[in-house]
Amino acid sequence: MADAAQRRPEVETVPDGHWLSRTADRGPARIIFNEAQIQRRVEEMAAEITRFYPEGEELLVLGLLKGSFIFLADLVRAIDRPLHVDFIVASSYGSGTTSSGNVRLLYDPMAPIAGRHVLLVEDIVDSGNTINRLSEALQQREPESLELCALLHKHLAENLALEPRWTGFDASPEFLVGYGLDHAEDFRHLPFVAGL
Ligand code: IMP
Ligand code: MG
Repeated sequence: MADAAQRRPEVETVPDGHWLSRTADRGPARIIFNEAQIQRRVEEMAAEITRFYPEGEELLVLGLLKGSFIFLADLVRAIDRPLHVDFIVASSYGSGTTSSGNVRLLYDPMAPIAGRHVLLVEDIVDSGNTINRLSEALQQREPESLELCALLHKHLAENLALEPRWTGFDASPEFLVGYGLDHAEDFRHLPFVAGL
């Protein structure tokens, strides 16, 4: 199950007495990626993104709400290119822990897409339903380029219409929370990523 945790010699758990350790019903929640690991990786990705786009080219960074809000905030501050930020709201989960496959677009970006370098920022690629639906909708608006940056990738999707060019971490199939990711809207504000 926990690929990511198995690669590390010691399993780090949410500190005793932390309220997340009390809400988990299967023993203490495990920290899968801690704050320092995330920060380091975000800086590496931002440097790669900066190098990828020609100097002087302006980006439109499109964050998928709500899950990407913390990742995006850290990422854009480390990208050394002129950029604009806008958001897309898509919903596929409700309050469960499995994808419904039914992706709804709840908010369309106000920003024009045509002719722009669009960088889509996603918290986690799971079934790929969201990305497949969104990349189609965005491609129709004829961006100059469309790339995906995902903090986490579960590698479960068989036919992803848009593979992330930048992935923070490969993740095991378990359900993850923190650093923007929620379970029924809880836990988004945790500074680390934990397994529930
Ligand atoms: P997909 O459409 O199945 O790829 O799922 C994409 C969305 O589902 C992500 O943007 C997340 O908001 C949510 N999601 C998928 N896996 C997890 C998880 O392990 N924890 C929290 N949210 C998740
Ligand atoms: Mg979500």
